[in-house]
Amino acid sequence: MDKTKLRNDILKILNNIDINIKNNKDNKIYDKLISNKDIKHAKNIMCFVSFKDEVNTHKFIKHLLKNDINVYIPIIDSKNKVMNISKLNSFDELETGFYNILEPKKEYIRICSPEILDVIITPGVVFDKDNYRVGYGGGFYDKFFSIKNLKAKKIGVCYKEQIMDKVPREDYDIPVDYIIHD
Ligand SMILES: Nc1ncnc2c1ncn2[C@@H]1O[C@H](COP(=O)(O)OP(=O)(O)OP(=O)(O)O)[C@@H](O)[C@H]1O
Ligand SMILES: [Mg+2]
Repeated sequence: MDKTKLRNDILKILNNIDINIKNNKDNKIYDKLISNKDIKHAKNIMCFVSFKDEVNTHKFIKHLLKNDINVYIPIIDSKNKVMNISKLNSFDELETGFYNILEPKKEYIRICSPEILDVIITPGVVFDKDNYRVGYGGGFYDKFFSIKNLKAKKIGVCYKEQIMDKVPREDYDIPVDYIIHD
């Protein structure tokens, strides 16, 4: 199956989920995240800052910050085509940037080494039963997962509607360890 069509089909489905239903799904996932063992034992957690139809991670990030767990968010270095992580100390450090995505204001960018991460909360457009994923197509997470000495547990988060039996795989695709869904 064609990855591009797969992405577009699933993104359309997500776009059509009623907002109240989405909120319920997000709450369910939030409850699972905050009671997850790997997350409870983690000191350093990377988490994407959700936008639009993605599983909402804002409440989860605020929960981590309140509990003094170190939070790192992905930052795309478009020049070098790589994803870095930046330590986030407060949700107020974020502002809406290009494409309306929340990102840290320049003065709050604190790049850190991915080796310190215990957990990576991983977004995706589609996941499958073997934990393989299809993202937005940048290959950023695949590249990030292939960093040497990365010891973090890779946890995918998504809605039930995003899980399929099997997604197309390339040699460079790296699965997550497991998926948390509603
Ligand atoms: N480890 C890697 N090193 C260099 N390039 C890579 C690596 N992994 C993937 N790529 C490149 O990234 C491109 C997109 O990959 P792919 O279609 O798997 O994206 P994706 O998994 O949907 O995106 P993402 O990982 O950002 O969510 C591919 O053309 C591939 O060549
Ligand atoms: Mg991939």
